[in-house]
Amino acid sequence: MDFVKVEREGSVATLTIDRQDKLNAISPQVVEELGQSLLELESQPPTAIVVTGAGEKAFVAGADIAEMSQMSAVEAKRFAEIGHAAMALLDRSPVPTIAAVNGFALGGGCEIALACDMRIAADNAMFGFPEVGLGILPGMGGTQRLPRLIGSGLASELLFSARRIEAAEAKEMGLVNRVVAQGEALNAAQQLATEISKNGPLAVRYAKAAANKALDVDLVSGLEYEADQFALLFSTEDAAEGMGAFSEKRKPDFKGQ
Ligand code: COA
Repeated sequence: MDFVKVEREGSVATLTIDRQDKLNAISPQVVEELGQSLLELESQPPTAIVVTGAGEKAFVAGADIAEMSQMSAVEAKRFAEIGHAAMALLDRSPVPTIAAVNGFALGGGCEIALACDMRIAADNAMFGFPEVGLGILPGMGGTQRLPRLIGSGLASELLFSARRIEAAEAKEMGLVNRVVAQGEALNAAQQLATEISKNGPLAVRYAKAAANKALDVDLVSGLEYEADQFALLFSTEDAAEGMGAFSEKRKPDFKGQ
């Protein structure tokens, strides 16, 4: 891989988009590498995935405008499709995903952050959807995931105005979970990933699947799904271990089984 690095520390995987001379802007190759890296992780799944950008200045400054300016409509459709596929691998990853937003997260950068379950921003992070100012629109899920996350009114403002917002405003809108000092986003995201990893891995996976379901189906169907997942966990060794450890006043030793 030229532009995506994967590191594992303990059971947590960190994916770094590294194309610093272009502020980590994502070309079709970068998107393909991101998708490929996520696919490869599925064969030996971590307990959580952190996604970040290399350097102090940018998370991802968007899709590569120089490459997009040369695309035909057919090529643009293909770019959107590979983008959607990569974002789906993040969104539907069986394990929790956290974006560590360490600088500019514009356009496609914002869309990558939106495809993660959680977002932690450094206080120098800058968010926005500049696409309409370029005469195009967000093509990696932004028009769909942003209204689901922050509601239609605020999403419309960001999508239609192309206005850039700072981390504090992003927090106020509910676009990010937390704002930390510059240079601390990756640390904070990895700490959260480690905290998540102390829990029953199957329980966390099923909780993620159930929480995802909430965005896709009506309440009654979602509750039915939750009840099924809840019951299923009672057949696992982890549930016996977790509840047994509580009774025995000790820390659980989860095996993910
Ligand atoms: N696509 C392609 N190249 C990009 C890029 C993008 N989205 N974002 C930054 N770059 C490149 C610049 O062209 C420049 O390359 P160069 O040194 O070969 O000229 C390099 O990254 C550094 O960017 P620069 O613009 O010089 O940095 P800056 O600090 O002055 O400005 C930004 C930073 C993020 C405000 C500015 O780069 C920008 O507006 N980028 C485009 C953001 C965007 O519209 N993204 C959505 C695309 S759909």
